[in-house]
Amino acid sequence: MIKSLLVSLALIASSALAAPATLTSKTSCSATAVSCSSSASSNTCCSPKYGLVVLVQQWVPGYGPDDAFTLHGLWPDECNGSYAPSNGCDSSRQWTNIESIVENYGPSTLHSDMLTYWPSDAESNNDFWSHEWDKHGTCVSTYAPTCYGSSYTKYEDVIDYFTKVLELRAQYDLYSALADANITPGGSYSVSDMQDAIQSAFGVTAKIDCSSGTLSDIEINFVVKGTTTYIPQNTSGSTCKGTVDYPSK
Ligand SMILES: *[C@@H]1O[C@H](CO)[C@@H](O)[C@H](O)[C@H]1NC(C)=O
Ligand SMILES: *[C@@H]1O[C@H](CO)[C@@H](O)[C@H](O)[C@H]1NC(C)=O
Repeated sequence: MIKSLLVSLALIASSALAAPATLTSKTSCSATAVSCSSSASSNTCCSPKYGLVVLVQQWVPGYGPDDAFTLHGLWPDECNGSYAPSNGCDSSRQWTNIESIVENYGPSTLHSDMLTYWPSDAESNNDFWSHEWDKHGTCVSTYAPTCYGSSYTKYEDVIDYFTKVLELRAQYDLYSALADANITPGGSYSVSDMQDAIQSAFGVTAKIDCSSGTLSDIEINFVVKGTTTYIPQNTSGSTCKGTVDYPSK
């Protein structure tokens, strides 16, 4: 109690010194505010401004573990199906060297987890990750450096974003959700059986996307309670129809 009071006072003091009146901090956050709802906090450090967040996982033979989807990314949306500014949200933080930032500033496991679960299937990993950060990561308002107050350390925003996306991938493990319903690579399945498997694992529907009848990626939307609790939403708009080819890697 005393400790948290001191922390609050320290935060108030530092924000009073450092921040113009328009800047927000986490001192007034409501733990129950849910993004994209009428309870959403107007403090964009307390819940994400672009608060309908889309987790996109892909199935690309040749990339990543045989028993895991890999990441495309986490895309903040304006709560209505439109991506947050498509050229990113903070040009002052659009880095082109994300791989070296992750290696030099992240925990030792972060880079190896990204190599495993977030490989690029086109450009270099560095270019892919830098693109994801520049276009989407800078749009997660809760990771803006001002939200950390005086405790911010260099690139903490970058590290926290990539760490959170990897955590969501592990939590919303699509391979296991499908395998639990005996839907495994190397076969063809009805899209409704795949949808049922995802629904029984996570309680929501997903957007299941195909390219020429072959599974390509699966999206799940979330709203965010406070800054860290991602609540899955029913997600519509699947482009797969009828029977879906789920190839082995
Ligand atoms: C979504 O909301 C944003 C911000 O209010 C607006 O600029 C955009 O046009 C909206 N998009 C759609 C598809 O309604
Ligand atoms: C998703 O849809 C199902 C079936 O219509 C419903 O029971 C459930 O409450 C919905 N979940 C959310 C988070 O909206």
